[in-house]
Amino acid sequence: MSETMVSEDHAPLQKLFRPVIKALRTAYIQGTTVVKLLPSERAIQLYYKYRRKSYDLQWSMDPGYRKGLKNLVDLVIEDNDMVLDVGCGTASATIVAADKAREVVGIDLSPDMIELAVEKVKKKGLNNTCLLATSVEEYCPEQPFDKVISSFMIPHVKPELRPAIYSCMFNFLKSGGTVGLFGSRGEVCDVYETRQEIEENLTRSGFTDIQLHDVYDIYRIAVAKKPE
Ligand SMILES: C[S@@+](CC[C@H](N)C(=O)[O-])C[C@H]1O[C@@H](n2cnc3c(N)ncnc32)[C@H](O)[C@@H]1O
Repeated sequence: MSETMVSEDHAPLQKLFRPVIKALRTAYIQGTTVVKLLPSERAIQLYYKYRRKSYDLQWSMDPGYRKGLKNLVDLVIEDNDMVLDVGCGTASATIVAADKAREVVGIDLSPDMIELAVEKVKKKGLNNTCLLATSVEEYCPEQPFDKVISSFMIPHVKPELRPAIYSCMFNFLKSGGTVGLFGSRGEVCDVYETRQEIEENLTRSGFTDIQLHDVYDIYRIAVAKKPE
């Protein structure tokens, strides 16, 4: 397994506001432990019905999140790729990926998040995306994808069910395809996976060539291959 680290920008304005942004970011990541209180798919759907409006506003305040999404896309996606965004939410990763890929399909359990995602994609004038309200477990693509990405979805999955989700992602990919996962770190907040857990879950599902890219002091991107 290889590892890299992306450090914070040194632009003067970002430097000035860094302590505030860092405090907000840390509070938010710690706050995501609320997902432990969502015991079922229905509970997740209800949560995002009321949470969706504030969701993007909150992330928009953190340059680290945008940087992480850009890094994810830079690391994983090539021109002409057919990409699946798992747990796409309001399509933040879908939109960044669609700038580069041939087509991006975004799937999400919450019809309310998908509704907002459709509005965002329309506003951006993108015509290479397709957004579907479905769970990962129920999704049956007609064709496998070149790349599968997922951003901040894994914390919603109970640790014992994560291997099954990784297996779905493995099955959604063509042989030789790549998965890219963006989130925080289990070392920072326990709803996320530690280095060891990511490595174990990816390896158990059949992925190889695992790379971990730490972004700032709080985020992590994991990239791995489905063998040919
Ligand atoms: C924290 S949000 C992340 C959204 C988006 N990827 C982002 O980076 O902003 C997690 C999303 O995962 C979705 N989700 C949770 N469990 C899911 C499942 N089993 N299948 C599909 N989507 C799921 C939720 O509905 C929610 O929109």
